[in-house]
Amino acid sequence: MNRSTSLFVGLLLVFLTSWLALVVVPYIQMGRLLPDVDDVTQDQTPAAFSGLAEQGRQVYAANGCVYCHSQQVRSRVSGADIDRGWGERRTVARDYLRDRAAYLGESRMGPDLANVGSRRDKADWLYTHFYEPDAVSPGTNCPPLHFLFSRHKIVGQPSTDALQGLSGDVPKVHEEEVVPGHDAKALAAYLLSLKRTSYKLAEAPEEKTDTP
Ligand code: HEC
Repeated sequence: MNRSTSLFVGLLLVFLTSWLALVVVPYIQMGRLLPDVDDVTQDQTPAAFSGLAEQGRQVYAANGCVYCHSQQVRSRVSGADIDRGWGERRTVARDYLRDRAAYLGESRMGPDLANVGSRRDKADWLYTHFYEPDAVSPGTNCPPLHFLFSRHKIVGQPSTDALQGLSGDVPKVHEEEVVPGHDAKALAAYLLSLKRTSYKLAEAPEEKTDTP
């Protein structure tokens, strides 16, 4: 074999091995995963996202939340995620079956959001956090998302979904209010639906214990 043929065969082997290890083996392991079906109720877990939550997933992706937030709970053996209250068990492949793209995260500047819907279960809290994170988490560097809200003069009765408890200049200007727009509602619906370890899966037993 001359040198260029050996180089070609070598490169081919490298690509073939990577393709087998990164594409074929994971496909065999996970490609045919199905939701878990309850024998009695026939409920499927994980449940499908609602239409609004699916739109919120796109808002999440478009605004770079993945750069500071992960969505993966590590097992007790490999980290302190469960002790931090981010989930009852580690997340596994089946938890992401309904995701068109799994936002596992780039880094962890903020808390893991795999289960944020179980911890932060009020849309009003999320709206305030989106508009003025500092009002509910003083000192945070989670970015404000003003463009998801409409700030306008109150005409007639104030809106029922106007944000309360803002600490900036909005409360001082009595004739104005801040109201969540469609994308803010969709993003909140998405986060409220993130309860990835609130159901049981045979392949990932609960690891939470009461002892610290
Ligand atoms: C620059 C990094 C950064 C980015 C980008 C970021 N966050 Fe955060 N986020 C944080 C930090 C730090 C905290 C923890 C302090 C706090 O509660 O604000 C946090 C907290 C949160 C919380 C509260 C979680 C909890 O368990 O209390 C939510 C919800 C949240 N972020 C949503 C988002 C969403 C949605 C986006 C994208 C639009 C986003 N964040 C983008 C840094 C970031």
